[in-house]
Amino acid sequence: TAAELSTAIVQALEGLAPGNSPAALGLVPTMGALHSGHESLVSTAREQNDVLVVSIFVNELQFNDRADFERYPRTLDADIEILARAGADIVFAPEVSTVYPDGRPLVKLDSGALGEKFEGASRPGHFDGMLAVVAKLLHFCMPPASLGVPVAYRAYFGQKDAQQLVLINRMVADLNYPVEIRSVPIIRSAEGLALSSRNQFLTKEQAKAALVIHRALNLVKGRADRHEPLYLEDAAGLFEMEPLVELDYFELVDPRTLQELAFNCQDTPFTGEGLLLVAAKVGKVRLIDNMSLGY
Ligand code: PAJ
Repeated sequence: TAAELSTAIVQALEGLAPGNSPAALGLVPTMGALHSGHESLVSTAREQNDVLVVSIFVNELQFNDRADFERYPRTLDADIEILARAGADIVFAPEVSTVYPDGRPLVKLDSGALGEKFEGASRPGHFDGMLAVVAKLLHFCMPPASLGVPVAYRAYFGQKDAQQLVLINRMVADLNYPVEIRSVPIIRSAEGLALSSRNQFLTKEQAKAALVIHRALNLVKGRADRHEPLYLEDAAGLFEMEPLVELDYFELVDPRTLQELAFNCQDTPFTGEGLLLVAAKVGKVRLIDNMSLGY
């Protein structure tokens, strides 16, 4: 429950050796079915904080597709084992009634125009629902002011979900959340597939075909590194050779606003900074990935 969580946070903070101040609390929100991508967030947060809270909650509000929600993998026992080994102090795995005691919230967060683009275009309401739960999780885990010592508060998110990360940063800025958002690089398989809890639904053949995503990103990244024109159409063309993979979008955007950078798609050498965003469907599984250019 929320009260048990607060008690656990206070006890963990009070249990720190004196002189260990200012203390820091790190939160890693997840939906469980943990893999090495999550573990990377957890180990980063473990290194950077005195107290580490990991939340596990499959948030129905962010699923626009009921079937996707129902088949989402739930592996709580295995997750808790992973988190114990990774050194989490507290695992917060609330019931739905703890997070949404009155059912669906009456007062909602609106992810605006950005929430309707890219992932939002094929998942209407997804980002509003995501912000709703992240806003609540940030409150649930906030270190109490009553301790009398300042406690730094940080929440960790993966760069894999680039649009989610941008929207969370905007929410925190727009609503003055007293938390620092830290981001962690994408973890991929040895072959290059970005890890995702939904990858387990891919057949071997589909997983192999999905590697075209990484090939396409690398093709454009190589050109950017050599300051050549990017020719994004070539990357999109690679997908035509993989009938199992249906490309949704392949876009170059501003890394901070996710505004499309049309200029850099033309026949001119790439300059500046950009972020390549890609989404594709393999069978019923939606895959996303991204790569920074120009750093
Ligand atoms: P989930 O998909 O479980 O992801 C939890 C966190 O792990 C997110 O910040 C995500 O970006 C990060 N992550 C997932 N795969 C990764 C990978 N291959 N490399 C690096 N980081 C990765 O994202 C969510 O849950 C939810 O939307 C949530 C924020 C918990 C709100 O419900």
